[in-house]
Order: sequence, then structure tokens, then C-alpha cells
Amino acid sequence: MEEILKITGLTKRYKNYTAVDDLNISVKKGEVYGFLGQNGAGKTTTIHMLLGLIQPTSGSIELFGQFVTGGRALAFGRVGSIIEMPGSYPNLTAVENLDIHRRLMGMGNKECIEESLAQVGLLENRNKKVKSFSLGMKQRLGIARALLHHPELLILDEPTNALDPSGIKEVRHLIMELASKRNISVLVSSHILSEIQQIATKIGIIHNGKLVQEIDQQSLQMKNRHCVEFKVSNERKAAMLLEQRLTISDYSVPSPGVIRIFEHLSEASLINKTFVQHDIDVLEMIMVRETLEDYFLNLTGGNWGA
Ligand SMILES: Nc1ncnc2c1ncn2[C@@H]1O[C@H](COP(=O)(O)OP(=O)(O)OP(=O)(O)O)[C@@H](O)[C@H]1O
Ligand SMILES: [Mg+2]
Repeated sequence: MEEILKITGLTKRYKNYTAVDDLNISVKKGEVYGFLGQNGAGKTTTIHMLLGLIQPTSGSIELFGQFVTGGRALAFGRVGSIIEMPGSYPNLTAVENLDIHRRLMGMGNKECIEESLAQVGLLENRNKKVKSFSLGMKQRLGIARALLHHPELLILDEPTNALDPSGIKEVRHLIMELASKRNISVLVSSHILSEIQQIATKIGIIHNGKLVQEIDQQSLQMKNRHCVEFKVSNERKAAMLLEQRLTISDYSVPSPGVIRIFEHLSEASLINKTFVQHDIDVLEMIMVRETLEDYFLNLTGGNWGA
């Protein structure tokens, strides 16, 4: 699949503070890449570098196969973006707002205005003043503005921030529709797992400026995995036994003394016996479901539900 965006070793340092640390990401055509991270993780800093708004300390960015690190490049013309809540003129209509932007961008053809309003479902409201719009509609207008020049890649920094549940749903549907029907690739950041999980085909988790994990569609579907959880006196030794004696590798250690096993569930009693035979105290053995959220919490120790 064609690579639309490739980030290699991207780093941004402010004095002694590293906001983005050796980031490697690739977004392929048609993908909706969810860029997930808590407040301060480095999402906006990364996106600003992608759009050429700030200079990286080191590393490179390729858009549509062209290196763009260093500012001006034709490839930026193939990207549309919104950074947090885009502002518009409240006393002007949707069409008038987009027309200002069209002229600023030096685009001659006015057809793009109605086209992009249609794409975001605002055609019927095109002649209404923006002050009468809901937050969700304003955000969709922001996306319409980003779509005016027919970009192939859309970069959205927290597009659902400050929206209520119905606004969030509107924007979520819109992103999915743009990707599936218009074949636009999307990089969308968020700090809320449940939102990104519903739209992304791939999720990259950024934590303290580092990409700690990438999760593909298959793993995203794993949402609720059954497992058997053991509370043991020595989880390291238990893990070693699983791998070496029982050839079990699909397990996790969500907290000290706890080990979750995702395969050979019918052999739980054999596992238990093996632990005991090797002087590991088994304090508890239960069947549980691990949600994707548990999985993320385990990776970052953060709160993803807020
Ligand atoms: N110009 C700057 N000078 C110094 N530090 C900065 C600067 N810009 C950002 N940072 C720091 O870099 C870190 C990453 O910030 P960034 O805005 O990229 O995070 P974020 O993931 O977008 O967070 P949020 O979810 O709050 O938007 C933060 O600790 C922030 O304080
Ligand atoms: Mg941010």
C-alpha cells in the first residue's frame, strides 16, 4: 500500500526538555491513523512539525514520497488540517466563511465551497450565520475548510475536543465517511481511547514524546479478550515457566504479582500445577476479560477514559 506519510526519528527538544522523542510513524493510503496520547504527550508538537509550523530538532518527514522537513514543499498542498477548534466569523454565513478562506488560499474556483459543504453535511445550512451553529456544526465547517483544496491527507488535532456526545458522533461519522467514500487518508489525534478506537484502522500511542505501541486493526478488534488471571508470589518466575515449560507466549503482567494468560485457557489447571510444582504460590486463579482499555492502561499507566 502506498505510503502517504513517513516520519523517521522525529525529535523536538526545548532546552533540556524533549517533547517528541525519536518518533517513527507511517500512514498508508486509505488509513485512519489514530494518534493517541495523554495531555502533554507530544501530539500537537508532532502535528505542528508535520505541517511545517515548527522545525524539528532532528529527524525527517516525508509526505507523498517527498522530504518536507525544512518548511516549504509542494506536498503541503495535498494536506488539509485543523488544529484544535478552528475559528470562524460568527456573523458571516458558512459560505462566506469558506469564501474568505478560498480567496486567502488563492483558489479561483468557487465550486469547491459547496462541494466541501456537501461533504461535511452542511449544504442545507450554507446560508445560515455561523453564530447559530452548534459546536459540532462549527467543527464540521472547520473540516469543510480543510477540504476546500481537495487534500489527500487530512491531519486533525483533537477534532472532538469540547464537543458534546452528539457532536463527537457527528465528527466521528464524518471522518469515517471521508476515509471510506472519498478515499482520504487521515491522521487524527485524541486523548480518548474509546473515540479513536471506533474510527482508526491503526492506533499509535505516544507517551512522554515516545511512540510506545502501534496497534493494527486486528488487535483493535480484540476489544474483549478472555484470559485466565493468576495471582502469584513470583510473576517473573511464573512468566519464565510459561515460556520455557509450557511454550505459552501470549500473556501479560498488568501489575506486580498478576499474570494474565490468553492462550491454552482449557489447560489452566495444568498451568496452576506447574506453578505450584516450581514453588510459586498461587493465591488466586480467575477467568477474566481484558478490554483494550486495560491493555493501554497497562502500557502507559494513564487514564484513558476521561
Ligand atoms: N514551545 C514550547 N516550549 C517548551 N515546551 C513546550 C513547547 N511546546 C510544547 N511544549 C511541551 O511539550 C510537551 C508536549 O506538548 P504537546 O502540546 O505536544 O502535547 P499534546 O499531546 O498535544 O497535549 P494535549 O493533549 O494537552 O494537547 C508538553 O509537556 C509541553 O509543555
Ligand atoms: Mg495538543
